[in-house]
This record gives sequence, C-alpha cells and structure tokens, in this order.
Amino acid sequence: SDARALVPRSPIAELIQGGFSPWLDERHVERALDLCTGSGCIGIAMAAHNPDWQVDLADVSDEALALARENVEFQDVGDRVEVIRSDLFAGLAGRRYDLIVSNPPYVTEQEFAALPAEYSHEPKLGLTAGADGLDFALRILVQAPEHLTDDGVLIVEVGESERALVALLPQIPFNWIEFAVGQMGVFLLDRADLVTHAAAIRAVAARRG
Ligand SMILES: C[S@@+](CC[C@H](N)C(=O)[O-])C[C@H]1O[C@@H](n2cnc3c(N)ncnc32)[C@H](O)[C@@H]1O
Repeated sequence: SDARALVPRSPIAELIQGGFSPWLDERHVERALDLCTGSGCIGIAMAAHNPDWQVDLADVSDEALALARENVEFQDVGDRVEVIRSDLFAGLAGRRYDLIVSNPPYVTEQEFAALPAEYSHEPKLGLTAGADGLDFALRILVQAPEHLTDDGVLIVEVGESERALVALLPQIPFNWIEFAVGQMGVFLLDRADLVTHAAAIRAVAARRG
C-alpha cells in the first residue's frame, strides 16, 4: 500500500455516485471543496461525476497533496480541479463554496492504539483527532460559514464520533445521512443552521482550547 495517504474508505463515495440525492436536488452547485482531501479521491470523484463543477482539494500534508496531484492528472480533471495546501480553511481565505465535503481525521487516540497493524502504515496525522475524535469536526463547524455561499451545504464524516458530537451539541439539527448499509456517521448541515447555532458551536469549541 502507499503510505503517503489513506486508501479511500469513505461512504461519501456512495453519495457522489447517487448525485447527492435527495440532498442537493434543488440546489445549484458551481464550486465545491474537498477539505482534508488526502489522495483526493472524494474531490476527484465529485469533479468526474459533475462536469460543470469547479472543485478545490485541500490538505495540510505535502505528501497527500503530491498524491492528489498525481490522481488529478491520472483522472484528467486538472482543468476544473485545484489542489491547495491548507491547514483546514487557513489557506482558503476569500473562497466560498456551494458544497463543502470533508472526511477529516476522526479516530480517537484510544481507537488508534487498538487499530490492526495495516493502519500503522498510514500517517497518524491522517487519522487521530483527540480523545473523542472531534477536534477537526468542531473546527470545521466553526469556520465553515465563512466559506459557504448563502445556500451552501456542509457534509462531514465523523464515523463513530457521531454520538459524542450529538452529546456536545444536542441543539444542532444534524441530518445524519442513510447509506445502503445504514447510518455511517456522516452529517449534512445547511449554512443557515450553522449561522443560527454559531454561538453554541463556538462555545463548545472554545471549551476544548
Ligand atoms: C481521514 S483522511 C481522509 C482522506 C480522504 N478525504 C478520504 O476520504 O480518503 C484525513 C486527511 O486529513 C488531512 N489533514 C490532517 N490535518 C489536517 C489539517 N489541519 N488541515 C487539512 N488537512 C488535514 C490528512 O493529511 C489526511 O489526508
């Protein structure tokens, strides 16, 4: 296996194949972002399935970005896909998207210690996210409104950390997406919901330091 970035295992691939139905049915997407893109598989699949979308791929890891660039070239979507080095949204100032999709690191320290040996080949940066796995998801919830268009939508995979997230923010109307195999810890939120609950999200994120 290639140790530079993660092998794609995200259920988000199923969403892309189904055209994000019914979630995006009434919406017009021009620009989309794959945040924490790794090998680029999610963003490249979005570009391949939607010939009129412009897609940015962002990651903080130079090795991941190098692999993403190779895959962009291999899939021949380079005319509509930009690969950007960014610590979450830090390198995306002024950019707004109709759709932000992210499969950020969400494995807890405890889960990481218990993972089978195959995972030890993958960079730890790509997997762990604090005691409850929510370090990245909370930062994304705080920062996403600034990078979404008014009708924009945020989709984030948090896996097993779903319960911890609902416990931290019970008032947020997370839409937990149903996949063929059931619920997989992937939520969808409208920008409007993020704005309505911005104070609560900020308070929870701030408490974690
Ligand atoms: C779970 S992997 C997801 C990879 C890919 N999206 C997928 O579904 O296969 C998490 C990715 O987040 C990246 N990452 C970690 N910290 C980051 C940060 N602060 N900003 C942006 N990306 C980050 C890692 O380099 C890794 O590629």
